[in-house]
Amino acid sequence: MFTLKTGRFPLLEANPNLVYLDNASTTQKPEPVIRAISEYYQTRNANVHRAVYRLAEASTYAYEGARNRVARFIGASSSKEIVFTRGTTEALNLIAHSLTRTFLHPGDVIIVTQMDHHSNIVPFWLAAREQGLHLRFWPITQTGELDIQDLETLWSEQVRVVTLPHVSNVLGTVNPIPSVASFVHERGAFLVLDAAQSVGHMPFDVSELGCDMAAFSSHKMYGPMGIGVLWVREQILDSLVPYQGGGEMIATVSETDITFNEPPYRFEAGTPNVEGAVGLAAAIDFLDSLDREKIWEEEQKLARYGAEVLSDIEHLTLYGEAAIRAPVFTFNLEGVHSHDLAQFLDSRSIAVRSGHHCAQPLLHRLGATSAVRASLGICNSKEDLDRLVDALEDARRYFQ
Ligand code: ALA
Repeated sequence: MFTLKTGRFPLLEANPNLVYLDNASTTQKPEPVIRAISEYYQTRNANVHRAVYRLAEASTYAYEGARNRVARFIGASSSKEIVFTRGTTEALNLIAHSLTRTFLHPGDVIIVTQMDHHSNIVPFWLAAREQGLHLRFWPITQTGELDIQDLETLWSEQVRVVTLPHVSNVLGTVNPIPSVASFVHERGAFLVLDAAQSVGHMPFDVSELGCDMAAFSSHKMYGPMGIGVLWVREQILDSLVPYQGGGEMIATVSETDITFNEPPYRFEAGTPNVEGAVGLAAAIDFLDSLDREKIWEEEQKLARYGAEVLSDIEHLTLYGEAAIRAPVFTFNLEGVHSHDLAQFLDSRSIAVRSGHHCAQPLLHRLGATSAVRASLGICNSKEDLDRLVDALEDARRYFQ
């Protein structure tokens, strides 16, 4: 079923029996990404933006080249809109801090969803607590989707920000971002997108999606850990107050005053993760070489097949029935704790995540405290799902 030629993944080649089904946590790394990082350190390592010698210029060129590459990849109108962060979590903390302090006032309301990751809920919760703002939760439907009618019910004049995931890390639900963006913008609010689970799986263009800002991580899209992206529409980014202070984010510092650098540098305090940016650019080249439309088409086939075969297992509850979903399957086997089931699967060389998936409000809504999650990516096939189903059938018999 899955027909992409995915290239070399050294870790997977070294472990041919491993069925890696934890791509929503982090993806494995293809050889060109590993090579790009190694080459960077062997040929261009120096700090960026701070010196005029040629090696430092080569390093700066690599770092800024990566920023341009990211901008093109997501359809940003300029590389000035790309802020490098440590990952989605830091990007969402930055935006929750700076957006609320720049534009919101006590009494204003932020809407998050019941399917949000803690990385999105907690930063806005902290901002709300510190600034006298209020959080409202957009509930999910019985099928694990978001209904705009429910957003309308929740709405009041005080709503200034709506923040939601593009793809749920638990349910695999793909949310209708362009419709949500129209609704939110007609009412003069901002739309923040947590794109951690989408960018590595489907075509992703911020102008088509219509959001105002988007956050994602390199390591979930076949790039290295420790680097991510915050994209913010230029007019908004220009106005935002800084998040962290330090080198690079300033224009001038005196004993009596500080002036700040232009975006995106205003938001990149300290020595940046240059190897990460270089690795991310290599991951983007890698994804583009595979054809992003094709990746998404194939992953949707896996999503449909997985939902079908997992639903047929007796005593297994599969959460979420969204019409459009990514190949992310979260489930429980009756009477078996998720960690026990995950360990059983590991004994069959199947790697899955178990626990609350950093989405406790969602797990609570689903009536669970923990669950097992299998999440697929470009290295997976229908055969991997068949191996999972066979192992789950064995587990059902074993734990009975
Ligand atoms: N955010 C990652 C996940 O959902 C770690 O697994």
